[in-house]
Amino acid sequence: MAHVLDPDLRRAFADRLRYYHELGIYDFYRRESQVAERAAGAPDAFETTESTLPASSQPELREKMAARKSAVVATVAEENIFDVLTPKPEYGVADHKAALKLIREDLGDCTRCKLHQQGRKQIVFGVGNPRAELMFVGEGPGADEDAQGEPFVGRAGQLLNNMIKAMGLRREEVYIANVVKCRPPGNRTPERDECETCSPFLMRQIAVIKPKVVVALGAVAAKNLLAFNAPMAELRGRFYDFMPAGARSSDPSWQGARLAVTYHPAFLLRDPRQKGEAWKDLQMVMKYLGLEPPTKVAE
Ligand code: URA
Repeated sequence: MAHVLDPDLRRAFADRLRYYHELGIYDFYRRESQVAERAAGAPDAFETTESTLPASSQPELREKMAARKSAVVATVAEENIFDVLTPKPEYGVADHKAALKLIREDLGDCTRCKLHQQGRKQIVFGVGNPRAELMFVGEGPGADEDAQGEPFVGRAGQLLNNMIKAMGLRREEVYIANVVKCRPPGNRTPERDECETCSPFLMRQIAVIKPKVVVALGAVAAKNLLAFNAPMAELRGRFYDFMPAGARSSDPSWQGARLAVTYHPAFLLRDPRQKGEAWKDLQMVMKYLGLEPPTKVAE
């Protein structure tokens, strides 16, 4: 089962680890007894948390842990804390564009999952403003995106462009990426192992861009960015605190993004009656970002 940390605790934990990192402490060990306890069914992520930290940090975490038990919290995707500590090429690179380039280079001609053997023409990394305040995350490239190497350039992309314009923004001002960077054959939904293999790269992109808001387009993006699966009707209509799992931002003062969920543009093409609902989601984002819709939205 995925371990879910509430955002405050996750932040405290990441800060503490960063602090140890700065002190030159890189190695953390789990006590065997606690690993065994977990395996025997002790499900709380905090047990791992405590056992991986020096003793001096434990009372503070215990307090938060007690608070967490009764709290209703927004969740973030499961995080392997050891990933946070594994240096990535872009860590410490302040220039967003250069940092994104390093992530792209790290991805290389990726063969990490089976999608590379299933007819993809090219990797579709992401497009837009490396310093965007607003980021959209879709599911995976379709045929047009695979052909052009850019996310959301087909029919769903045209609708997404209109949604962006309706928010008073230009496509070039936002950043657009997908959970998986290779086209699933026949536009099937990306499978769990494919998402798990690819999403660390998305998390690193988000950590570099440091958007104020991430909009998950559809259930696949929502499920992969948040650590739970729920019907769209339950996921929409609110913000979640979001920190990219397993990735570190070059800016320790960045406290994460807000995440909103809305319908995927391809779904809206199939069921245009839901456009009004999607517009409500975007208005919530606009309000938070202080955006005004243009007086006349170009078609
Ligand atoms: N659908 C997606 O989820 N992403 C794209 O890039 C295009 C269509």
